Amino acid sequence: MTFSAKITATGAYLPERILTNAELATMVDTDDEWIRERTGIRDRRIAVPDETSSTLGAEAARRARGAAGSAGSEIDLVLVGTCTPDGMFPAVASRIQHTIGATNAGAFDVNAACTGYLSAFSTATQFIANGTSRRVMVIGSETLSRIVERTDRGTCVLFGDGAGTTLLEQAPPGEPGSIESLILRCDGSYADSLYASEPAGIEDRPLARNANIVMDGRAVFRAAVEDMSAACRTALDDAGLGIEDIALCVPHQANELIIRAVARNLGLEMERVFMNVERYGNTSSATIPIALHEANVEGRLKPGDHVLMTAIGGGLTWGALVAEWGNVRVHQPVTMDAALASGRYPPP
Ligand code: ACO
Repeated sequence: MTFSAKITATGAYLPERILTNAELATMVDTDDEWIRERTGIRDRRIAVPDETSSTLGAEAARRARGAAGSAGSEIDLVLVGTCTPDGMFPAVASRIQHTIGATNAGAFDVNAACTGYLSAFSTATQFIANGTSRRVMVIGSETLSRIVERTDRGTCVLFGDGAGTTLLEQAPPGEPGSIESLILRCDGSYADSLYASEPAGIEDRPLARNANIVMDGRAVFRAAVEDMSAACRTALDDAGLGIEDIALCVPHQANELIIRAVARNLGLEMERVFMNVERYGNTSSATIPIALHEANVEGRLKPGDHVLMTAIGGGLTWGALVAEWGNVRVHQPVTMDAALASGRYPPP
């Protein structure tokens, strides 16, 4: 039997430390006006030294699990899209599995740079479709601040840290809320247009900092607009939908100009496009799940709506996905008194 996967809960966690454009301008030759005009970014969040992709991802997953009311033991699989793991191994997913008490789950990471979340999500839907898994925690978690060279003004202004999560569950075929189409693509001939290099003197640096992002910004910009637009068209065709059927597009948040150009290509007005790049910058695999969670919190999606997601990242990798929105639960912050009274604190 083939099962459908449906989204049942969302969660996110952003580090508290905010790095503003003004502060960046004291570190490197840039200014707020340039960054805003070329990227739309105002702030980004930066992990403090004891925060890692696994601690950020675990907190986001804990929130989604709490929203769903699922016990950790009910989760079959933990998948993490990340290109900034805490170290070479174990996988970020392993540490998160332990932290959220997913005692019956398998766990592994998926690295497709900024397409990591869509790739992990696609993997999860296959595990659910063939009946191997019933409940999969799909996480995008990144600490890109650890791999940007603070003296490279062409990249250091773009990236930030954060994590977002989506809980996917098995649903009988045809149940509202299921995944309607997804496509993944890659063109490895662009591998040198966007990559993490190994700088000199790596022996002096902790593992997660053994790289700096190197990017041909213009080439990536062009490819991002073309490839995400094409992927969205294909995903819509595969789902048998037109752009007019999409209630909300949640694109990878790399640059406001890229998002606007893709929306223009698709004939999608900006009211139907979710954007938070201004507040968090590019958090790679984490941008879509964070944005999806915020859209959920804001009530931008209701049951029966069709949502379109699209991403592009180093590789180059890219993809798009169409899902029908169901009853998707969301972590609601509660006061300490209410939490104690309801038995929701300490968290399970
Ligand atoms: N502040 C001020 N000036 C700057 C800065 C800065 N932060 N960065 C570059 N400049 C300068 C350049 O040195 C150059 O100066 P010059 O004309 O004197 O040589 C000038 O601004 C123009 O530089 P460009 O690189 O041509 O600027 P562009 O308009 O292309 O914008 C940007 C650069 C924002 C990086 C853009 O190309 C872009 O967004 N590209 C896509 C990047 C992206 O999304 N990458 C992530 C993909 S996802 C993943 O997998 C990680």
